[in-house]
Amino acid sequence: MCGIFAYTGKQQALPILLDGLTCLEYRGYDSAGIYIPESGVVKSVGAVDNLKKKIVLPMPGNSGIAHLRWATHGEPTEENAHPHSDSSETIWIVHNGIIENYKELKEMLLTKGCTFYSSTDTEVLAKLIGYYMEEKKDFEKSVLAALNDTKGTYGMVASYKNEPNKIIAARQGAPVVIGLGNGENFVASDVSPILRHTKDVIYLLDGDVAVLTPNNHTIYNLQNISIDRKTEIIEWDIEEAKKGEYAHFMLKEIMEGAEVVENTIRGRLIVDEGIAKLGGLDAVAEQIRTKKRIIIVGCGTAYYAGLVAEYMIEEFVGMPVEVEVGSEFRYRKPIIDQDTIVLAVTQSGETADTLEAIREGKRKGALTLGIVNTVGSTISRETDAGIYNHAGPEIGVASTKAFISQLTALALLTLFLGRQRGMSSSTGKMIAEEIKKLPQKIKEILDKKEEIQKIAKKYANSRDFLFMGRKYNYAIAFEGALKLKECSYIHAEGYGAGEMKHGPLAMIDENFPTFAIVPNDSVYEKNISNIQEIRARKGKVIVLTNEDNEEIRDMSDDIFIVPKTVEMLSPILNIIPLQLFAYYFAIERGLNVDRPRNLAKSVTVE
Ligand code: F6R
Repeated sequence: MCGIFAYTGKQQALPILLDGLTCLEYRGYDSAGIYIPESGVVKSVGAVDNLKKKIVLPMPGNSGIAHLRWATHGEPTEENAHPHSDSSETIWIVHNGIIENYKELKEMLLTKGCTFYSSTDTEVLAKLIGYYMEEKKDFEKSVLAALNDTKGTYGMVASYKNEPNKIIAARQGAPVVIGLGNGENFVASDVSPILRHTKDVIYLLDGDVAVLTPNNHTIYNLQNISIDRKTEIIEWDIEEAKKGEYAHFMLKEIMEGAEVVENTIRGRLIVDEGIAKLGGLDAVAEQIRTKKRIIIVGCGTAYYAGLVAEYMIEEFVGMPVEVEVGSEFRYRKPIIDQDTIVLAVTQSGETADTLEAIREGKRKGALTLGIVNTVGSTISRETDAGIYNHAGPEIGVASTKAFISQLTALALLTLFLGRQRGMSSSTGKMIAEEIKKLPQKIKEILDKKEEIQKIAKKYANSRDFLFMGRKYNYAIAFEGALKLKECSYIHAEGYGAGEMKHGPLAMIDENFPTFAIVPNDSVYEKNISNIQEIRARKGKVIVLTNEDNEEIRDMSDDIFIVPKTVEMLSPILNIIPLQLFAYYFAIERGLNVDRPRNLAKSVTVE
C-alpha cells in the first residue's frame, strides 16, 4: 500500500530509483513520482511506465526519493502524486500512511500563509517541515519537529535540495527498511527493491528516524536520542523477486506451489515420530500447552486460511478455535484472557488490522503467535513467537503461494498442538506422511494446468460465478471466489454448500455457473445432492474433485480431478486449480492480473 524508495550514493540516482519503483509496483499504481535534488521533480498518473515517459533526460544527481501511490486522501491525479514539497520547494517528501490530524495542521499552516496544491495529507506534512525550517534552519531538526506534531501513520522519506546527499527516513506504523551498501544507502517499504543492491538491512521500528548519507547511517528516536538497531541479513534471493520465464508474477507464484510447501515443511516434519518440530515456538512451547483456546486473526486470504485451521485444530487437537477478520476483531470487545492464544496469519506481516488485533491480544494478556511470510516484518517482531512461512517474496497482488504455505504451516501447527495434547502417534504419523506427499501431488495438478485454462476460456464471458464447498473446503469456496473477483472484477460468491437452499439457489440459472468443490470426503454425498439441486435449475457446474467416477462425470459440465489426500489437507490441493482458474479467466478477459484495479499488496492503513 504505497511504495517508497530512496537512494543516496555515488551512482546516478535516476535508474536506481526507477528500478526500485518497478520492484515496488505491486504496492500501488495510482500514480508515481521522483525527486532528485539536482534535477527536480517528475510525477505522473498511473504506474512507472507513465512516469518514464514523462522524464526528460538528463536528470543528473546521486540521490533521490521516489513513490508509488495507492490513493487514500485525494483522487489519483498528478497534483496528488508524491513527492510533495514545502512552500519553498526545497524540501520534498514521499509518504506511505495516513496523517490523522492533517486537518488541524493544515488549518494552522493556512493561517501562516501556506498554499496547498493537492488534497493529500502528505502535503500537510511537507509544508509543516518547511514551516519549522524557517525557524530552525536545520533539516534534521525540522523533520523531527514536524513528526512530533503528527498523529497517524507514516513510512516517509524527506530530501532537501541544499543537502542533496542526505535523506531522512522515519517510521510510525508503516514499514520502512534501510539497505546498507558500500558507499551507498537505500530506503524502501520492503526489501524487494533493496535486494539487488545489498542484503544488509535495518528494519526501522515505530518512532525511529534515520539520517542517511552515502557513507553513514544514524538512527534517532523522536526525542532525538541516538539508538542502535541491529543489521540483519536477508536470505531471500533476488531471483525470487523476478518473473523469470513467466508472463506474470501470479502464474509464477502459483507454479511455485510444490516448492513452497517443501520450503514450509523443511526441517519441521519428523515423519517417523509423527511430530512437527517448530523451532519458532520452542521458547513458548510450555506456555502453549497450558492455553485453553485460540483466536485466529487475519484479513482476506489469510482469514480464509484461518477458517480452514479452525476445522483442523478443533478436529485433531480438540481446542476451541475462533477465527475473525482483523478489522472486526479490533473494533469490538473480544473476550481474551491469559488462557487465550491470539494467532495472526499474514503474508506481509504489516496488515494494519491484523497488527492491531495482535496488540489488543497482548494488552489483554494473551500469548500472541504469528504465521508470517515476511521476515523482520512488524507482526513477526511484535508477536511472542511464531512460524515463518519461508514461501519467498510474494509479488502478485492476489495472494496465491502464501495461502498454500499458510495452510501448510497451519497443518504443521495442528500436528504440533495435537501431539502436545494426546493425539496418538499413529494419527501424527498419518498426518505427517500425508503432508510430506503434498509437493508431488501439487506438481501433478500444475502439470495439468492447460485443462484449467480450457475451462477458464469456456466460461470467460460469465458475469457471475458461484463457488461452493463444505467443511474443510467451505473456506476454499470463499477463497476461490475472492481470487476471481480481484483478478477479473466479476461478481463471484463463495458459499457453504449447505447454505444454498437458504437463499443463493435463487440466483442460479443457465447463465450463473458454479464451481463445486467436491472431494470424496465425509460430506461427499451431501455435496452431490447440492450439485443436483443446481443442475435442476439449469445451472452449469464445474466439479473439482478427487473422485473419478461415472456418477460425478455425468453430473458435471466440466470436471477437474486432483490427487487424493486426507480430508484436512484437501484445501491445499483444491485451491490450486481455483487460483489457476482465476488467473486464466482474467487473462482471457485481457486484464493485468498482477495489478488488479483499486488494490495493493500489503494493506498498511485501516
Ligand atoms: C487477496 C489478498 C488479500 C490479503 C490480505 C491480507 O488475494 O492478497 O486478501 O490476503 O490483504 O494480507 P496479509 O496476508 O499480508 O496480512
